[in-house]
Amino acid sequence: MGGTPVLRCVVRTFGPAVDVVTTETYDPPRPGPGEVSVRMLMASVNPSDLVTISGAYASRTTLPFVPGFEGVGVVEATGPGVRGLAAGQRVLPIGSAGAWQQTKVAEARWCLPVLPHLTDEQAATSYINPLTALLMLRQYVDPGMDGGATGTGVPGAAGAPGVVVNAAASAIGRMAIRMLNRDGVEPVAVVRHPRSREQLAGLRTAAVLCTSDAAVRESLPAVVREAAGGRPPAVVLDAVGGAEGGDLARALAPGGTLVHYGLLSGRPLPPSLATERPDVRIVLFRLRDWVHTADPARLTDALARAQRLVADGTAASAVAHVLPLTDVREALRREAAPGRTGKILLRAD
Ligand SMILES: NC(=O)c1ccc[n+]([C@@H]2O[C@H](COP(=O)([O-])OP(=O)(O)OC[C@H]3O[C@@H](n4cnc5c(N)ncnc54)[C@H](OP(=O)(O)O)[C@@H]3O)[C@@H](O)[C@H]2O)c1
Repeated sequence: MGGTPVLRCVVRTFGPAVDVVTTETYDPPRPGPGEVSVRMLMASVNPSDLVTISGAYASRTTLPFVPGFEGVGVVEATGPGVRGLAAGQRVLPIGSAGAWQQTKVAEARWCLPVLPHLTDEQAATSYINPLTALLMLRQYVDPGMDGGATGTGVPGAAGAPGVVVNAAASAIGRMAIRMLNRDGVEPVAVVRHPRSREQLAGLRTAAVLCTSDAAVRESLPAVVREAAGGRPPAVVLDAVGGAEGGDLARALAPGGTLVHYGLLSGRPLPPSLATERPDVRIVLFRLRDWVHTADPARLTDALARAQRLVADGTAASAVAHVLPLTDVREALRREAAPGRTGKILLRAD
């Protein structure tokens, strides 16, 4: 054991986050070989945290654990053999849970640099959504139109693919739309509440479709094609799954791609899709898979690019509330409240 007791959130049984996350004090260990001790400053609450706490990934989650896949901190101490990191440096300790605590002991190789001019709030939201949006667009939206935000190819709307973004008012949905806009693409946005239209103000879209409207929900493939100017879309970015994800796959042009990256509906895509539309590609995107297999230099470069997009506003997240770790239950209640307009952040001081 290492020093002064610090606060951490802990999950001892799986369940709804608001019921099972508790706080406690503990003595953090000193960093071992190749490790650093990071004094956390700010962490975000993301759907992936809530899903992990619920037990959906119980087979790869050992109880008890400290939640939080995204947060920023300052290196406090380095263990034996650590090169390239020094006390006082601001870092994002990624690649494992544990951001919802005052001190995270992490492997030095997973502590990535933070652009100096990002605020702590920006830094604490500069990894999961910005990097996912950037990588999905790079990999699955035609690289020929991807020079503006994503950094390769030549930008321009001529010949740009039709793109659909659902859960469009989510933090990542808005980022993806802003990135597409920089590349000259105006996607069809799909939301589930009329109030979400306000959150899309200032973004350029071909149309905003609301699935609370029965006429939209019941004929979604046809409505999407019509909204895209009669041209079936080439790419759908799907964070919802279930019936909605299935209908958006049905709207795709032959050879099109549904990038399935979230399960906000809690339901899988319809199994019949594979036989109904054998001509479309359905890919599952998981940031975790990319991060854990990427070459370290590529990961650092991609994260730096994502952070630049946060700094210039393209991949910025609206922040609804910042609460101290001691109020984690209240933070989780606000996370679950309908009509939330931005991210919930946890302050670790
Ligand atoms: N695969 C990956 O590697 C990866 C990486 C990043 C994010 N994601 C996924 O991306 C999704 C969005 O993440 P985020 O951080 O941007 O979320 P967020 O903004 O914090 O919250 C999600 C928002 O989506 C809306 N929503 C919830 N259920 C919905 C549904 N059934 N249909 C349509 N909209 C719904 C909610 O708004 P309203 O209640 O106002 O509708 C909610 O505010 C999550 O599923 C997350 O897991 C995946």
